[in-house]
Amino acid sequence: MKVEGKHFRTIWVNEDGWSVDLIDQRWLPHEFRVETVRTVAGIATAICDMWVRGAPLIGVAAAYGVAMRMREDPCDAALDAVWEELHATRPTAINLRWALDEMRNLLRPLPPGERAAAAYRRAAEIADEDVELNRSIGRHGLNIIRRIARGKKPGEPVNILTHCNAGWLATVDYGTATAPIYLAVEEGIPVHVYVDETRPRNQGAHLTAWEMAGHGVPHTLIVDNAGGHLMQRGKVDMVIVGTDRTTAQGDVCNKIGTYLKALAAHDNGVPFYVALPSPTIDWTVRDGVKEIPIEERSEDEVSLVWGRDTEGRIRQVRIAPQTTPAGNPAFDVTPARLVTGLITERGVTEASAEGLAKLFPERARTA
Ligand code: MRU
Repeated sequence: MKVEGKHFRTIWVNEDGWSVDLIDQRWLPHEFRVETVRTVAGIATAICDMWVRGAPLIGVAAAYGVAMRMREDPCDAALDAVWEELHATRPTAINLRWALDEMRNLLRPLPPGERAAAAYRRAAEIADEDVELNRSIGRHGLNIIRRIARGKKPGEPVNILTHCNAGWLATVDYGTATAPIYLAVEEGIPVHVYVDETRPRNQGAHLTAWEMAGHGVPHTLIVDNAGGHLMQRGKVDMVIVGTDRTTAQGDVCNKIGTYLKALAAHDNGVPFYVALPSPTIDWTVRDGVKEIPIEERSEDEVSLVWGRDTEGRIRQVRIAPQTTPAGNPAFDVTPARLVTGLITERGVTEASAEGLAKLFPERARTA
């Protein structure tokens, strides 16, 4: 997508053919910074410390990490070690494991001398595929927005609520939940987006609001607790969120707080959609609520808040007593029964084993 008129993806390989540049999201919306990463340790830090985040993007970053290691040392032991090292960075988004498996399965049968080049090729393909998957998600999701728009008075916007950032910054480009929104805007459909701030890290306030502002999408930032009230007052036509891992039964794991939005949507008859590319489906887990590992992050993310002060300095401030302990589960699971539909690259389906198996018969059979 464009930043000040220039097209950017979130990650790309430099002219040297092996180091990568990535948008360092920690500084947005205040500063747009690009970092160069040259080592596997650098990729691991970028994922752990959330310079890059969002399920599809961390998968792509990890794929480039594997390629970097193969350039230094293409032996089998190095391949296994880099898989472990990068897999340990974040536990919840399944795209990370998916990308690491893709890389290892491709590279293992190759002679070591061919591994580095093949790894960079496959990492670039995974990045390009992500863009295509998101475009397709966008087209399918657009049909839903069109349908809602047809029931509106001329000029009246379709009001969409979203949580966290499942935008282009969470992917290589376009985003998952935002792809239908961007296409609707391109088509001239009036939309308005309620952006949940998404405590504790404020991905909504920092990233989604920045994306919406940058692309001229009318939007309003709301506190996480406002969604239920707005739904009761009929101010939300649909919810679209992304996901870090969706089970074959349609349970949806996403940023903490998504479940509460789904409950409020269900109670108020507001359609609740989840946008996801197929690498986000975990075909192995049976019960999402019990089995998906939920990342527990630092207490500091809850007790300290980042912002820019009136003198223009980006800094953290403490919002709780120094001695108060904080808990920080980063994700929750929304049971399939609360999900109106899954928007995938192959179309929209109900959140159920049957629905997903119909769209992805080849995966469902082997799971
Ligand atoms: O902790 P984050 O910022 O990586 O969490 C991101 C999300 O929860 C997104 O909604 C999810 O990864 C989907 S991204 C297309």
